[in-house]
Amino acid sequence: MLDQIALRAELADHYDLAPSPDLALATADLYARMERVVSPPDWAIHAPYVAAINRLKKERNAVILAHNYMTPEIYHGVADVVGDSLQLAIEATRAEADVIVQCGVHFMAETAKILNPAKTVLMPDMEAGCSLAESITPAGIAEMRARYPGAPVVTYVNTSAAVKAASDICCTSSNAAQIVAAQDSDTVIMTPDKYLAQNVARQVPHKRVVWWDGACIVHERFTAQDLRDFRSYNPETRIIAHPECPPDVVAEADFSGSTSGIIGYVERERPQKAMLVTECSMASNISGALPEVDFVGPCNMCPYMKKITLEKILWSLHAMDGAVEVDAAIAAKARVAVQRMIDLSRQLAG
Ligand code: 13P
Ligand code: SF4
Repeated sequence: MLDQIALRAELADHYDLAPSPDLALATADLYARMERVVSPPDWAIHAPYVAAINRLKKERNAVILAHNYMTPEIYHGVADVVGDSLQLAIEATRAEADVIVQCGVHFMAETAKILNPAKTVLMPDMEAGCSLAESITPAGIAEMRARYPGAPVVTYVNTSAAVKAASDICCTSSNAAQIVAAQDSDTVIMTPDKYLAQNVARQVPHKRVVWWDGACIVHERFTAQDLRDFRSYNPETRIIAHPECPPDVVAEADFSGSTSGIIGYVERERPQKAMLVTECSMASNISGALPEVDFVGPCNMCPYMKKITLEKILWSLHAMDGAVEVDAAIAAKARVAVQRMIDLSRQLAG
């Protein structure tokens, strides 16, 4: 990828990207979904990028898959499909377009490529990593297998293709407990998220769950004391935590689930006040459709997810830059672990 100054200059040669009140007006239907959190002047800045990306998507026969942590102008402005990690992986298997632009982090783009290798999968910023994915290598999986001989390895999708390839089956935050419960072994190894593993261990007490020492830098920052303090001043607030949070944080919450699980809960319950103990963009993205819910309390930003911007998406589609490749032998093994998860999830959902 070019550096930001060169990239900006190249884009300026091909597109009129000056703030445009006219384009903002022409895309008022998109803006309506985020007007609670994006100001009109900001939308006038975003609108030329949104219009150019949506035009280029058609020219390139591309589809944009975006994670729930993307900023509102990406989530509502250019995404064709939004979802949690499991939903995005399933969508990647179904994509018919020639090009998939993965607006999320690198492991998600790798997963899309593993599941649909014939497609060009573009990552707008190759540096959008993940602290969990960076915490473990295949050697770590081998170490766990040596420590717990015969125990199956259930690996979170937030990992590299090579780590998935060394694992027996993958999981996401929306199916981890069911996948662990379905393993034909008393001991189950979970990698790399120790907090997800500890939360699963509470849900599946008949298994001995052992874990790798990784954590999400966004969710590990929340503390149970923060939640207790917040609740003591705001007793009517519904607190909803992602399972990448430490177990004492999850224990303080009224509900815990994957990002889509959290969205589903708020849509169903429509509490007067809600505190989402997860990444900041979640509340911003759903607040437009839930005007009666007041989203309160602190949130933490994922520095990796926030590397994805409209400008970088436009560049990747313009230059077809940032194609993700996975070694064929690694991809074949990783596909087995991811596909097992998808198949088992479908089977368990009945
Ligand atoms: P889910 O969207 O699967 O809940 O995962 C959250 C996450 O941190 C992805 O990086
Ligand atoms: Fe990784 Fe946490 Fe960021 Fe998700 S929120 S991409 S788990 S660092």
